[in-house]
Amino acid sequence: MKKLLILGATSGISQAYLNRVADQCEHIVLVARSAEKLALLSAHVSAISKATVTTLVVDLASTEEHQQLVENVVTAMGSIDCALVSYGVLTDQARCVNDPAYAMAQFNLNGTSTVSLSLNLANQLAKQGGGSLAVIGSVAGDRGRRSNYCYGAAKSAVDSFLAGLRSDMQKHKVHVLTVKPGFVDTPMTSDFKKGALWASADKVAADIDTAIIKKKSVLYTPWFWRYIMLIIKSIPEFIFKKLPL
Ligand SMILES: NC(=O)c1ccc[n+]([C@@H]2O[C@H](COP(=O)([O-])OP(=O)(O)OC[C@H]3O[C@@H](n4cnc5c(N)ncnc54)[C@H](OP(=O)(O)O)[C@@H]3O)[C@@H](O)[C@H]2O)c1
Repeated sequence: MKKLLILGATSGISQAYLNRVADQCEHIVLVARSAEKLALLSAHVSAISKATVTTLVVDLASTEEHQQLVENVVTAMGSIDCALVSYGVLTDQARCVNDPAYAMAQFNLNGTSTVSLSLNLANQLAKQGGGSLAVIGSVAGDRGRRSNYCYGAAKSAVDSFLAGLRSDMQKHKVHVLTVKPGFVDTPMTSDFKKGALWASADKVAADIDTAIIKKKSVLYTPWFWRYIMLIIKSIPEFIFKKLPL
């Protein structure tokens, strides 16, 4: 991979991925909403790699900016070999129930905006004749649970969308990877008590790297989440709705 684009570059998972692959890149475009964090990250990436680093400050919830953003990336880098979409917010489920406007804003960030960005990126990769698009969803999108169904519904929308996009983009040689992490120790989950099912951002980044190289379609990371979610999905609804999950 020579030309890498990271959207949500300041996220814990993005930074772990950058630490892993930056030295293999010629040019890296980092996109995030915080100019201060981007400046620090850019300096770090320049210290660990010889790649040219370009930063773009964008609020990725603004879907109307996505087309221009992709055009700006292409102006900076010429083309895109690999794009990683890795941003979002862990929605406050209790607040959603009493505040539908908040719930919709969260759905827009975690769901609609990711769909918009993925479509703009896939169209660019198709125009170029190929490339990889890796998008971080979540195991939370596999089944709606009472504790986080607003976040989960947005991730579920992303999952369905990417399944169709992957199939549609085959004719253009565009590889679309859906990443479904379980519990990952990042700033997003800093308030959570960690246990045996938790993974580091480094582990998830290593799995993403391998899945991109092998052109996988769907990655559960760590691997055991595929089987946990198979069990969760197989529980009949009349039992599932009574579980305090
Ligand atoms: N951690 C987990 O357990 C877990 C599990 C499954 C899936 N995921 C997914 O993994 C992805 C990366 O999250 P993470 O775990 O690495 O958490 P993180 O470190 O908290 O990263 C979240 C990132 O999203 C960025 N962001 C939020 N709103 C944005 C906006 N409007 N425009 C641009 N950027 C915005 C944040 O920017 P700032 O740095 O400026 O705040 C931050 O860099 C997310 O899609 C998340 O849903 C995480």
